[in-house]
Order: sequence, then structure tokens, then C-alpha cells
Amino acid sequence: MIAACIDDFRVLAKTRLPRFLFDYIDGGSYSEATMRSNVADLQALRLRQQVMRDVSAIDLSTMMMGRKVALPIALGPVGLAGLNARRGEVQAARAAEAKGVPFILSAVSCCSLEEVTGAVSGPVMLQLYMIRDRDFMRDLLGRAAALGVDTLVLTVDLAVQSARYRDVRSGLAGVQGIDTQLRRFSQIAARPGWAWDVGVRGGPHTLGNFAPVMKEGAGLSQFLAWVGRNFDASITWKDLDWIRQHWSGRLVIKGVLDPDDALAACDAGADSIIVSNHGGRQLDGAPSTIAALPAVAKAVGGRAEILMDSGVRSGVDVLRALALGAKGVLLGRPWAFALAARGEAGVAAMLDLLRHEMAVAMALTGQTSIADLSPDILLPLNT
Ligand code: FNR
Repeated sequence: MIAACIDDFRVLAKTRLPRFLFDYIDGGSYSEATMRSNVADLQALRLRQQVMRDVSAIDLSTMMMGRKVALPIALGPVGLAGLNARRGEVQAARAAEAKGVPFILSAVSCCSLEEVTGAVSGPVMLQLYMIRDRDFMRDLLGRAAALGVDTLVLTVDLAVQSARYRDVRSGLAGVQGIDTQLRRFSQIAARPGWAWDVGVRGGPHTLGNFAPVMKEGAGLSQFLAWVGRNFDASITWKDLDWIRQHWSGRLVIKGVLDPDDALAACDAGADSIIVSNHGGRQLDGAPSTIAALPAVAKAVGGRAEILMDSGVRSGVDVLRALALGAKGVLLGRPWAFALAARGEAGVAAMLDLLRHEMAVAMALTGQTSIADLSPDILLPLNT
């Protein structure tokens, strides 16, 4: 099957990944209402078709997180993406570099920071959660700076972990026993291509950056349990002072939906703020990010760069987010699925698709430059 659009990669990934892994990526918290509204609210926004405006030269390049980018898009942090394809984070980082967009490595990646930075020539960005063990955090920040990481993305919407019913049903979350192991084993056996590519040839199967603190041979479910125990639920805005003491590069705060929180992030020294509900994987019932974005952008009023993620599934969606105040968007599931479907080439093809869709949407809304996008290109609902 040829992937004609972003959603096609999801279909392809489903045929390639063991069931529990597909569900881990695809799922959201509880009823998944917020996850669905991320996509639906974006798609409900109508664009204003404007014609006869010389759209023969369209420039999609812009600045994002202090960098010149070919598209206002970054590959957002996706934990355990290295399970989607062999040495998955390396493949995705290479595709991002080739297409001129930033790659943000999740702290909880399979490939270590050293492996990923060694595989590309430009700087990689690192995402981190607040970990209870501050010595470990300090060491990791030092490692990152030494490896040329210039941007730290601190994710703040995971003080506690929400539940995903799909992970409970698949046995990925919860009590582990011989039954859950057998179920996973049979799901892996049903996907021999993945078992060979990732299971046999894709090792070592460790959490690259956390290998020093996790038991050797720890599997996916042990890792998820470790996250629950070691992420710091006592974090407040004051802790950003600690981050600032140990990190002198660019600081991006990810996981803000509320204007008051956005202002607090500005006060705490954030250079960029990512309006995000973690792809609908945390507070079920929270608004979609596209609904939350305008109020955050208005409150911040240029004090920090505003980015958005959650629910972006096409180049048209990118335009919608930019029209409502984002300077760029992050992708989560779309690149995770493209990687699972076709590896590095899949991620590159996905970015090409988005580029093409964006260029068409720009042309047909009469726009030629990212800097000119404004709410003017949108129409009120029910028009
Ligand atoms: C995530 N996300 C995430 N965020 C983060 O800051 N650190 C992480 O390690 C992860 N891990 C992760 C794993 C998986 C499987 C998914 C799907 C998501 C959230 C991610 O960065 C992003 O906010 C959302 O995925 C955006 O929503 P979409 O694009 O998936 O709809």
C-alpha cells in the first residue's frame, strides 16, 4: 500500500507492529474524548479560499525554537520510538535532518543521546521530565550540553501518569504475570517482520539514557512502572530555577493549556511554550489544543514563542494552528507510525506529504509566506 496521506501510515503501522505496541502509540487516556477532539476541532476549522493572488512562489521556511527550519514542523518527543523500527530514534533523526526540521529526542528513548547525536551532523533537541533523582538529571543535562544539544524541552503535564485503557487491556500496564507475557509473545509472533527487524536485529533493547539507573534486561512494562515511581509529582514553577541553574541553553516548556500557566512559564524564563495535552494521553476532558491555543497566545503576547501539538494530521492542520497563533507545530503519532511503517524513508515521505499539503493550502488561501498567516485565513464555524 502507498501512503497517500498521514493517516495511511497509521494503517500501515497497524499491520507491522505487535498489537500491544500499536495500541500504546495509538491510544489516549480514559474515554479518549480529548484525544478525539484534538483531531476533530482542528478539522472543523474552515479555511477562507482566496484566489488570483500570484502564489507562484511559496516559502514554507521560518524560525522555530531559535532555528531556521524548512517547515514549521518538529518531530516531537515520543518515548520508546526505538521499538517502532530498528534503532528507531536514529532513523527518525536522520529523516528530520534531511528534511530540515528539528528532532526532539524523548528522554525515555531506546537509543541514547550519544547514539542519536552521533548519527546526525546538526544539533538534536532533548526532552526531559522532572526526575526525582536530581543527581541523575544534572548528569544528563551535562551530557546533553557536552554533546551539543542546544534546546531542552521540559514536559510539565505528566506530574502523574494517566491511565490508558488500551494498555491495561493489552497487559502493558498493570500487574505483570505469565499470562501478560504470553499474550505479548503471541502478538509478537503474529508480526514476524517486526520481530526480526526490531526484536532480533534491533538491540540492545535498553532505555538508552536511563540504562545507568534501570535494571539490566528491564522490559517495556517494567519501564512504564519505573516512570510512575520516578517522575517527580512535587514539581512546581520554582523548580525551573533549578533547571535554569543547570541548563544554559534554550528552554522550552511542553504541556501548557491554561493562559495563567503560560504566564507562569514566561516568568520562569521559558523561551518557548508548547500548547499540548500530550496528544490526549493525560487529562481526559481537557480542551483540545487548538481550542486552548488562542487564549494562551493572547496572554503571552510575544513574551515567549508559542508552539502547539496534538491532533495535527495534515498540512492543512499546520496552517490552522499557525493561523491561530502558533509559530510551529510538533508531531507525535504521525511520525511514530511513519517510522513503524517504513523506517527513515517513511518519516521522510511523511514530511514530504506535509510539505506538499501545506504548499497547496497556502496557495489556495492566497498566502505565500508563513509570516503572513493570521486568523484572517479562517472562517467562522458554520460558514
Ligand atoms: C508521547 N508524548 C511524549 N511527550 C513527551 O514529552 N515525552 C515523551 O516521552 C512522550 N512519549 C510519547 C509516546 C507516545 C507513544 C505518544 C503517542 C506520545 C507526547 C507527544 O510528544 C505529543 O505531545 C503528542 O503525541 C502530540 O499529539 P499527536 O501528534 O500524537 O496527536
